[in-house]
Amino acid sequence: MAESIYPVPQQWAEGALIDAAGYQTMYRRSVEDPEGFWGEAAQRLDWIRPFTRVKDTSFDEADFGIAWFSDGTLNISANALDRHLAERGDTVAILWEADDPAEPHRAITYRELHADVCRFANLLKAQGIGRGDRVTLYLPMVPEAAVAMLACARIGAIHSIVFAGFSPDALAGRIRDCDSRIVLTADEGLRGGKRIPLKANVDAALTHCIGVERVIMLRRTGADVPMVEGRDIDWAEAANQSADCAPAEMNAEDPLFILYTSGSTGKPKGVLHTTGGYAVWTAMTHEYVFDYRPGQIYWCAADIGWVTGHSYVVYGPLMNGATSVMFEGVPNWPDPSRFWQVVDKFKVEIFYGAPTALRALMREGDDWVAKTDRSSLRLLGSVGEPINPEAWSWYHRVVGEGRCPIVDTWWQTETGGAMITPLPGATPLKPGSATKPFFGVQPALLDTDGKEIEGAGDGCLVIKDSWPGQMRTVWGDHDRFFQTYFTTFKGVYFTGDGCRRDEDGYYWITGRIDDVINVSGHRMGTAEIESALVAHHKVAEAAVVGMPHDIKGQGIYAFVTTNAEVTPDAALRAELIKWVRQEIGPIATPDVIQFAPALPKTRSGKIMRRILRKIGENDVGNLGDTSTLADPSVVDHLLANRPHLT
Ligand code: PRX
Repeated sequence: MAESIYPVPQQWAEGALIDAAGYQTMYRRSVEDPEGFWGEAAQRLDWIRPFTRVKDTSFDEADFGIAWFSDGTLNISANALDRHLAERGDTVAILWEADDPAEPHRAITYRELHADVCRFANLLKAQGIGRGDRVTLYLPMVPEAAVAMLACARIGAIHSIVFAGFSPDALAGRIRDCDSRIVLTADEGLRGGKRIPLKANVDAALTHCIGVERVIMLRRTGADVPMVEGRDIDWAEAANQSADCAPAEMNAEDPLFILYTSGSTGKPKGVLHTTGGYAVWTAMTHEYVFDYRPGQIYWCAADIGWVTGHSYVVYGPLMNGATSVMFEGVPNWPDPSRFWQVVDKFKVEIFYGAPTALRALMREGDDWVAKTDRSSLRLLGSVGEPINPEAWSWYHRVVGEGRCPIVDTWWQTETGGAMITPLPGATPLKPGSATKPFFGVQPALLDTDGKEIEGAGDGCLVIKDSWPGQMRTVWGDHDRFFQTYFTTFKGVYFTGDGCRRDEDGYYWITGRIDDVINVSGHRMGTAEIESALVAHHKVAEAAVVGMPHDIKGQGIYAFVTTNAEVTPDAALRAELIKWVRQEIGPIATPDVIQFAPALPKTRSGKIMRRILRKIGENDVGNLGDTSTLADPSVVDHLLANRPHLT
């Protein structure tokens, strides 16, 4: 596919926080003098006791350890709230939009948020919760979720947010893994007009968790839910607490939160982030990646159940004094204009979303977008998966009307914040590329023998040195942390992603390494083939996995969802095979195309490739855990409609 380049628009080159030359200078300094660079960068925070040490890190087994600013103390909730009060106490911190457009929105100022956080922190204290205690949150996207996060941080408790779409079993596993004594939830959640029985799920989960002594329940819908005497209390009791709560003095390396994330094997890992480095990383990336200036209306459409919600709905924006939009609903309810109506309602200037949502909206046609105004938008962002050039162009041309740069940010739960990303005033864009490393990030590509690839090439993406936002351990299993990330290749952090670097030094994430397939000795990113398929005008979504092939080693198995009005048939199958051969080359010819009305996705919208891989491998006896699927019946349909494998 011909590669297009989108230069930095004139007004961005002139007006942004940082231009191309500035990026070069700062980047060079950040890797040549990390101590000096980060020592200065960390001055953006209010420290209680200033640090004298900056970077104590080693990825080598003999002296493995990761610590940043380790003799400094601070409180991240004070950085997100207290220090704004004098200057912008009446600025709106959280602008909340309900699931149902008919329900009034809420605008909570920094002063109000500060008071709410203090009250809730005092309520937690009254339950005996303090420094180092784990607090599990199972909450809808409501401002109280941010209040609870910041309240934990204020008293030094460690929050562990479990996405409110997870099942009771998944919730129970996560509560037990970190021994939470307390769970925060709501009577029900609301998403896309549907009610989610959160309290009932908690009750079910707690039948397997003997350690939980207290449940604090927010009344979101007012549903009549049973309360367990002696265990459950009403969130409204926070109103009786004092609005004064001194922030706890935390060491920079004290734990801030645990967030569970799936690996390719084993049970979910409790990714642990600490206080100082994470605060510096999220505040700084939020400011530079989104070119954020106080007063701008910023919307990250992620759920707080995922790391994007932690770093870019709550911590990063609030430390920068931003007005952060929080949305309870879904992109396509009551109709596919919903996102853009919210943009118009709040005059959103910066919008940050996921490719999966964009592809779903793209499928519905341009009219849903075109009928909204969107003239407030000036910057768009993408996160979570490779964005195929087709979706990128649609986002750019239709949503942004050609005037908004797109920051395609590559990062992971483990990295705390954006790692490879354009800066809108500095980086010419190439659709589908996350472009260049952020300050302090030293990516490298290794071949399977661990040899570094110089210049343009394809390999396993590793990061050579530590950055402040890096995870510090797997909760309760430090050895697993080391084994997972630092043993595949010695002395570097292994991301699990495959990546290509082009002649201009741009990074193109090709997908997880375990999604890379080898066809006749040629390595191919499944994302590349998917991107080609999705570029076809009749295709809405595609997922590609490897399949055993007698001659080629691995063949290509493609699952394809067509646009709504298309009838998938043999003629279309032939057309798509021809198309992919044209787009990439004969090497990428799909061996099997299975049409599917839907792909199996987790509730966060990630395609569950493990299942597709098993189907591709014709190993369908044990598909493993499918409990986190949004709609398990999708898998039955796929199994029943597998094309005859020859
Ligand atoms: O494979 C990469 C993909 O998502 C993985 C991390 O997922 P998670 O920990 O859930 O965090 C998602 C939100 C940061 C990565 O290993 N990924 C994330 N962002 C991108 C991406 N792949 C390509 N381009 C991106 N912008």
